[in-house]
Amino acid sequence: MQEKLENILKACEQALEKEQNLNDLNNLKAAYLGKKGEIAALMMTLKDLSNEEKPKVGKLINEIKQQLEALFEAKRNALEQVEIEKKLKSEAIDVTLPGLKKSVGSAHLLSQIVEDIEAFFIGLGYEIKDGPEVESDHYNFEMLNLEQGHPARAMQDSFYIDPNRLLRTHTSPVQARTMLESGGNPIKIICPGKVYRRDDDDQTHSHQFMQIEGLVIGEKISMANLKGTLLAFIQYFFGKDRNIRLRPSYFPFTEPSVEVDVYSEEGKWIEVLGAGMVHPNVLKMGGYDPEKVQGFAFGIGVERLGILKYHIDDIRQFYTNDIRFLKQFKGGR
Ligand code: PHE
Repeated sequence: MQEKLENILKACEQALEKEQNLNDLNNLKAAYLGKKGEIAALMMTLKDLSNEEKPKVGKLINEIKQQLEALFEAKRNALEQVEIEKKLKSEAIDVTLPGLKKSVGSAHLLSQIVEDIEAFFIGLGYEIKDGPEVESDHYNFEMLNLEQGHPARAMQDSFYIDPNRLLRTHTSPVQARTMLESGGNPIKIICPGKVYRRDDDDQTHSHQFMQIEGLVIGEKISMANLKGTLLAFIQYFFGKDRNIRLRPSYFPFTEPSVEVDVYSEEGKWIEVLGAGMVHPNVLKMGGYDPEKVQGFAFGIGVERLGILKYHIDDIRQFYTNDIRFLKQFKGGR
């Protein structure tokens, strides 16, 4: 009997060594320790033994049974440990992997330029004004001394919505609106905004672009004030070494009118804005007495300034929103 039991123990040890998974382990345990297992079968044989032998053999079987139980318990723990380790490994997070970068955006270059220009004029005491992009013929043209059929309307090919409404062709209608609002009081405003003209888009033309209108009205406002303001602005924007040149020009709403050129880095004069003294008719329509007050006005081409300052080769770059282009201008105020 002793030998038989030791053989069972040995066989079980060998079987356990090969065991790799918990399910099979349970089956094996049933084969040895279950109701129909080997130990149970040996227990059954006890009844055939003499009274003297019974307790000895019973004790022996019990010892082996306990050893077997301990073996199974140890193996179960070992297999469970392996299982846990496997799980941990499969769920592990590789902290050495580079993380997902949150890309931080920035203001669009056009917004940056507008904000920069606003900051300059706010410093001079100007207010920022706004106006509608869908404008009436009345404000876009008539109030600016461009009556129906005026030949100068042809300079600003327009997108009409109906005979009386159009996408504004310049920010100048905000001049007229501000004059009427202000009830004859002095004015000092700039108005940045989008404007629209029927144009075939190419490297230097866009059917939509930005202007910044300026308007100053008060007593004893002169052309010298206009020139001084524009020179200070250009030197703020491009650098102290820049000079400007005023060329006589024509706008129906200013008299005299000028075209303003900036001396470029390439040694050429480049036109950047139109300006002039507010026309007496425009002052009158706006509720001012041209005998008592004067005004100057200017209209800055925002993209033009940007193209010059940042050496941009195509005006469409401002609108196609190519991230590779925009990323180069992640500054801003
Ligand atoms: N509105 C003019 C344009 O778009 C520019 C301008 C504004 C000229 C104010 C003079 C005064 O061409």
